[in-house]
Amino acid sequence: MSVFAYNANGEMQAEGVALETIAQQVGTPFYCYSAGALRAGWQEFADGMKGLNASVCYALKANSNLAVVKLFGDLGAGADIVSVGEMRRALAAGIAPRRIIFSGVGKKPSELMAALEAGIGQINVESSAELETLNAVAGQLGVKAAITIRVNPDVDAGTHAKITTGRKENKFGVDIDLARDAYALAARLPNLEVVGVAMHIGSQLIALDPYRDAIAKVRGLITQLRADGHRIERFDIGGGLGIVYADEKPPSIAAFMQLVTKETDGLGCALTFEPGRRLVGEAGVLVAEVILVKPGVSKTFVIVDAAMNDLIRPTLYEAWHDIVPARRPRPDGATIRCDIVGPVCESGDYLAQNRDLPPLSAGDLVMVRSAGAYGAVMASSYNTRPLVPEVMVDGTRFAVVRPRPSIDEMLSSERIPPWMEPA
Ligand code: LLP
Repeated sequence: MSVFAYNANGEMQAEGVALETIAQQVGTPFYCYSAGALRAGWQEFADGMKGLNASVCYALKANSNLAVVKLFGDLGAGADIVSVGEMRRALAAGIAPRRIIFSGVGKKPSELMAALEAGIGQINVESSAELETLNAVAGQLGVKAAITIRVNPDVDAGTHAKITTGRKENKFGVDIDLARDAYALAARLPNLEVVGVAMHIGSQLIALDPYRDAIAKVRGLITQLRADGHRIERFDIGGGLGIVYADEKPPSIAAFMQLVTKETDGLGCALTFEPGRRLVGEAGVLVAEVILVKPGVSKTFVIVDAAMNDLIRPTLYEAWHDIVPARRPRPDGATIRCDIVGPVCESGDYLAQNRDLPPLSAGDLVMVRSAGAYGAVMASSYNTRPLVPEVMVDGTRFAVVRPRPSIDEMLSSERIPPWMEPA
């Protein structure tokens, strides 16, 4: 059962706290994360990995709030980062540098330098050019950089075009057919130490077959690389496991681990997983208040105070997020067909289109489900809307884990050039 459920009074709760209670204290809109659901997500991985030589590096990009990162760090997670900013978050949350993996297709020399200075445990390199740059930076520092090369196995992850990453036409990784050359180059560069191979084929995967195909291809490559004389001790399988937004049937972690166990049997590699969405997605919701209801000729618009700048997934990926009222609907089952939209001046500003929802009126709260991943992290302050605050619930306690900035704070970071100031 979801940790987000109606209580006996018909109020939607996050664990033991009514969303209305949080709204009264924090205002709307806000993101709300359930610590219990985060822990349960972690436990599924921990159980699934029993007996495997494997570890989880949480992909911060899905939700990098310090409280979330610390929760996973305290449970034993490493981190998968794609910027120095995310590195600072992982370190601030207490994750040991050697448990951090630096991924990404375009790391700047200054970022590679900061990562090596911090003692990051593994850099997943995505091109020959990056091998050369990293070698130079490591040489300047007098250190050896532990690397894998992320290979692009050219498999179809069967997910949205904007979040598929393992096809030849995607910018990510080194084409698997060119990987041996890249490894040969890495072996010639004195300041690099090859430790393994990495892949990540896409996000929100619902089928296991693409993993099977990709692992089989990379396994073949590992055999070749070893024959070429490279030390391949680690196999980073990436993230990508899907969650429920509407009626998807994502695989259990147990089934995923079974597949991985079978496909990597006898390979003798330490495995790494980089899940993001699967650990946080269903553990978070976005709560908004209805500003007004505007009946139109063809449909009704329910205008709420959360918008595309707070949750961009619906308009960016045509993503479906379930939306439910924060008060249990009357049992008569009456619904209206509506678009749930925000106040932003764009027609693409919607959270949902053509939904049948119980009648709503101004002041009602609605809850957008499965918003814990790629929600707050992708938010902006477009239209000078303050970044949406984040709240964590744990049992009957809750805390604001990122407050809403005031408009004054937003304005205070900007400057008028001196020549515009009065003399
Ligand atoms: N590792 C690497 C190298 C990645 O690029 C990603 C995600 C992950 C791990 C974590 O993937 P996950 O387990 O979360 O699927 N903004 C999009 C998703 C972008 C995913 C990018 N890479 C969305 O809202 O659907």
